[in-house]
Amino acid sequence: MEQELRQLQAEAESKLPSLENLEELEEIRVQYLGRKGLFTGLLRQLGQVSAEDRPRLGKLANEIKNELELKFNARKSELSGIGAGTVAEKDDLSLPGRRVPFGRLHPVTQIMDEVCAIFIDLGFAVAEGPDIELDYYNFEALNIPQHHPARDMHDTFYISDSILLRTHTSPMQIRAMEKEKPPLRIIAPGKVYRCDSDITHTPMFHQVEGFLVDHKVSFADLKGVLTVFCQKMFDQKDIRLRFRPSFFPFTEPSAEVDIGCVICRGEGCRVCKQTGWLEILGAGMIDPEVLKMVDYDPEEFTGFAFGLGIERIAMLKYGIDDIRLFYENDIRFLNQF
Ligand code: DAH
Repeated sequence: MEQELRQLQAEAESKLPSLENLEELEEIRVQYLGRKGLFTGLLRQLGQVSAEDRPRLGKLANEIKNELELKFNARKSELSGIGAGTVAEKDDLSLPGRRVPFGRLHPVTQIMDEVCAIFIDLGFAVAEGPDIELDYYNFEALNIPQHHPARDMHDTFYISDSILLRTHTSPMQIRAMEKEKPPLRIIAPGKVYRCDSDITHTPMFHQVEGFLVDHKVSFADLKGVLTVFCQKMFDQKDIRLRFRPSFFPFTEPSAEVDIGCVICRGEGCRVCKQTGWLEILGAGMIDPEVLKMVDYDPEEFTGFAFGLGIERIAMLKYGIDDIRLFYENDIRFLNQF
């Protein structure tokens, strides 16, 4: 019986290559594998073999039948002009394709791009610098000498005495001014690092620094540029800005800039803590000491600078109350932007 099965298999297989079309193939298939075919005929005889051999032979017969069916199908594909093995008979070519799930930009990247696009429209050029920075650029040249109490505000990750992870993007003011002479209009986006973590702080976050140096630059120019920026960023033509006196070692005078709360429009809500105002950035006129550091003559040139936190703007714009959500990679959160 076993021999007969194998012989039948060999015989059927040997016929496949010479078949020239689907009709011939179908004829042979019916002859061997059809309900009244040779193979079925053999299977009927299985009843007559000893009960001892029956399971083994039954299994073998099934295997041979499956193998033959595969070979017939492959030949069928060939004769249909479709490469053997690529499309099995069961494939339905009329089904729609599988959709590739589209990714999207992270909300922080989106806001970063938006901020940069607004300043690029205003004629600013983009400059990028190193995350691992020298103490000189991060502090010293920005008028924050060693032991200056202002260093306490930056919870700095030091790599060595003179190398650190930048705590703000302001060092790019120095790097850019060292390279070029005024007029200068630059924004510097990037990552910054501080040893700090709670619902409004992560050890890594993003800032955009901006500065402009030229003849006769005034605080009015700073107000003008920031007003246009806030109008566009928060899509509000009549947005209100408030400049509060503040202190930064690298600007004089310095200001903290608030906008009328974009959530409640000044009525008072949870986001603005009932004040009607949201603090969005720090700014000021570049300190003459900083200009001297890069060999600019403060009698000839003046400039303004500002720095803003991207996560903070994203949180205000979308009403997000925990900064850590940006970095948990929860797709349910990220899909909303
Ligand atoms: N570098 C400051 C910080 O990270 C932000 C800042 C404030 C930048 C005032 C400026 C500025 O350019 O004028 O806290």
